[in-house]
Amino acid sequence: MASSRNRTLRVEEQEKKQLLAQCATKKSNMQLSDFTDNVFCEDVLELVDKLPERSVDLLFLDPPYNLTKSFGGSVFRQSTVEKYSAWMRTWFPRLLPALKPTASVYMCSDWRTSGIVQAIVSEHLIVRNRITWQREKGRGAQSNWKNCAEDIWFATVSEEYTFNVDKVKNRRKVIAPYKTKDGKPKDWEETDEGKYRLTFPSNLWNDITVPFWSMPENTEHPTQKPEKLVARVLLASTNEGDVVLDPFAGSGTTAVVCKKLGRTSIAIEVEPDYCALIQKRLQLTEPNSAIQGYNNGAFDSRNA
Ligand SMILES: C[S@@+](CC[C@H](N)C(=O)[O-])C[C@H]1O[C@@H](n2cnc3c(N)ncnc32)[C@H](O)[C@@H]1O
Repeated sequence: MASSRNRTLRVEEQEKKQLLAQCATKKSNMQLSDFTDNVFCEDVLELVDKLPERSVDLLFLDPPYNLTKSFGGSVFRQSTVEKYSAWMRTWFPRLLPALKPTASVYMCSDWRTSGIVQAIVSEHLIVRNRITWQREKGRGAQSNWKNCAEDIWFATVSEEYTFNVDKVKNRRKVIAPYKTKDGKPKDWEETDEGKYRLTFPSNLWNDITVPFWSMPENTEHPTQKPEKLVARVLLASTNEGDVVLDPFAGSGTTAVVCKKLGRTSIAIEVEPDYCALIQKRLQLTEPNSAIQGYNNGAFDSRNA
């Protein structure tokens, strides 16, 4: 019963070659149009110096955390803080010339890497916030606290940047519906589903579930970010048509959300299995299609 409802997206062996053939390849003297709305099956270090200067509006970074983890055919190995920081310094500063002066950067991390990310990002950019995503899922431990949060560092190149707060409000049920003297709802509205108010988004994101097997967006990638999370970032910090770079694209969540929201995506991912997965996901994605948890211009509560 459960397996018949499993909606996890997989790439079959026989379709992989054709999907990979749709990926772009690097060449000399690349223009922005060579990058946009393409997926590159490459090591980020091979492309980073080819990115046109001042061309990217948003850089979304979700690199491997400092943990031993298998990604497709490769294993990322946990190392010391010094070695992990040195690895991050091989690519992070080199991505920055590609940013527009008005660009924003979001970098994901777990508790082990959060301090490293803050230190390195603040050497180059204006750090504006640390968002904590309460993931809900996490393995219980006998001698430590269950690990169920991630930090997403938000930074900008300058004081001038996009922040569309009205696009990322939260729809929350009103517990005590207050009415004004003339009987009108104060800051809430009555809908068919009940009484709701739109609230300002905070830096604690506790309304987003890790994709799981019965969700249509779920894939076999081990650390896939939810579309709802990436949509919140993109809606707040970009406008339609803006260029979004994700150099650790994984299952392609950023590229998929870009397509749904009319943003321009550049995706780089080193593992061919995941590049094929991104292409398959993109083929199944319609522009303007739904994002689970985002309806009528606002974000619903978890599992609403
Ligand atoms: C944490 S995952 C990203 C998950 C992604 N945000 C998603 O929603 O699916 C990190 C990805 O970076 C890829 N990766 C690791 N080293 C890389 C490199 N040097 N260049 C490009 N991609 C790399 C891994 O294969 C992995 O898929």
